[in-house]
Amino acid sequence: MKLFKCSKCGTLIDMLEENCKVMCCGEPMTELVANTTDAAKEKHVPFVQIEDDTVYVRVGEVPHPMDEDHYINFIVAEYSDSVVKYMFKPGETPEAVFDYEKGMVIYEYCNKHGLWKKEL
Ligand SMILES: [Fe+2]
Repeated sequence: MKLFKCSKCGTLIDMLEENCKVMCCGEPMTELVANTTDAAKEKHVPFVQIEDDTVYVRVGEVPHPMDEDHYINFIVAEYSDSVVKYMFKPGETPEAVFDYEKGMVIYEYCNKHGLWKKEL
């Protein structure tokens, strides 16, 4: 999965494969690279527990704020052939439950601190 952000209006677009140059507000969108923001890893890297064939995810190992101006927008599970996304609003709890697949990747996006991921 690739995530692009418009530097002017903040619009986010996620794509399974990049096969064209994505434009917004008249300029190319910027691809976000996970785990590169200088912020508390324990509040952003998805915290994962695997039980049998189920993956329990929360953000993060130390709970992330869910304030009006600083919150987790989504948690995504990327499988070999599909993507499952949970969306969140301020005040909600950023937790998700997925089926387990070896090699899957869990992403989360913080509106202030960007994209984070954990490979399973
Ligand atoms: Fe954050």
